[in-house]
Amino acid sequence: MDRMYEEMINRKELRCAEGYLEKSAEGELLFCGHNARELAEEYGTPLMAFSESRLKENYRRMRSAFEKCYPKIQICFACKSNHLLGVISVLKGEGAYADVVSGGEFYKAEKAGTDPEHIVMNGNNKSDAEILMGIRKGAMINVDSLSELERVASAAESEGKKARICIRVNPDVTADSIAEFLTGLKKSKFGVDMDNGDALRAFRRARDASCLAVEGIHCHIGSQIENREFYRQAVEKVMDFCGTLKRELGLELSCVNMGGGFAIPFEYLDQVDRAEDFAELVTGVIKKKICEHGLKPPVLMIEPGGSLVGNTAVTLCRVGRIKQKEEKRLAALDAGGDLLLRATQGWYTYRAVCANKLGEAGDMLYDLVGPLCYEGDIPARDRMLPELEEGDLIAFLDTGAYVTTLMNQYNGRLLPAVLMITEEGGVKVIRRRDSYEDLIRNEMV
Ligand SMILES: Cc1ncc(COP(=O)(O)O)c(C=O)c1O
Repeated sequence: MDRMYEEMINRKELRCAEGYLEKSAEGELLFCGHNARELAEEYGTPLMAFSESRLKENYRRMRSAFEKCYPKIQICFACKSNHLLGVISVLKGEGAYADVVSGGEFYKAEKAGTDPEHIVMNGNNKSDAEILMGIRKGAMINVDSLSELERVASAAESEGKKARICIRVNPDVTADSIAEFLTGLKKSKFGVDMDNGDALRAFRRARDASCLAVEGIHCHIGSQIENREFYRQAVEKVMDFCGTLKRELGLELSCVNMGGGFAIPFEYLDQVDRAEDFAELVTGVIKKKICEHGLKPPVLMIEPGGSLVGNTAVTLCRVGRIKQKEEKRLAALDAGGDLLLRATQGWYTYRAVCANKLGEAGDMLYDLVGPLCYEGDIPARDRMLPELEEGDLIAFLDTGAYVTTLMNQYNGRLLPAVLMITEEGGVKVIRRRDSYEDLIRNEMV
């Protein structure tokens, strides 16, 4: 297995960030000014803590990066990356719309205060109930296939209400990410094929259906894309296609949604592109193509998830049993794949630090293993850390994305408490720790 990111982490000193991650005079980790050890003592472990200031900062940075280049921008937060009410509501407060992929995410986005007309419904297999929900509430439905288009049309007709739709196209492009995250390849399960004429057929059908309001086109090529260049071909293809729609169908779209996928700028990454880089490339192509095809400037929608919330949180775990193996030590933590699933899958690599020994040199090789009953339950491999003892506190950094939405009760583990450190520096519990009762809440004998 490629250990590139682990090597980067071991080579590099932790990069602190004022007001977010700092080292106290005693060599302990401070998160938003709070001592991580004290938070763990007060609220127990495993524990997650988010920074409200960072969430707002990330959103504002993304918005202004795009707005500077192209004023007609709308950010839809991808709730799949984090659907805690306490997180969605902060971003909603900043002006974010919500990208949802199920009735459940729709429900949570609304509960967090999102206007249903500001909800964009994605997904390759929406149920009839979800389609109806979207139509009734006036949400934007990103239609994923020709057959779904028919479903939406007949539901809208029987409701007597126009459905607002975008059509998701598949541009057949790759990106610098893992196979599991690539969604823009021809073989992908998402979107309508552009190259075989299906996309044009879908837009023609939609244009002619009186119960459909065709607002735009949608495309999402993948996740954790570190290099902006991979967006170039997708945006070009989508915008050229907008030109074709105008010429051949007389259809001018008011919205172009280029999805999300901008990489989480993990603290140890040097080469990763940031919001400004993605904004410059995407809007550059859009502006050029608007001129080329004589289009009215559409609203540019984007659906960032990881890049907004990834580097806004830490996950704190307690060290338990330690074993010496031939080549390295194994330190067992009180969370593994139940919380940090993408790390145990090898999809994300998080830096892990010993929160109460930040001042000590990392001169011993460790695997940080979880408590679950399978061998792959290893959220961090081959890490140079100071000598660990039972009771030490490990902090995984930049864990704000795809943790709270993927956490699970395997082996009867209780889902953790989650804190929001407010802008004023207060500590708010935004998710209480599960109890044993929660494990059986919906079960009957
Ligand atoms: C349609 C769509 N939009 C947006 C996203 C968010 O991606 P990311 O969190 O990488 O920004 C995803 C992720 O799977 C997606 O499928």
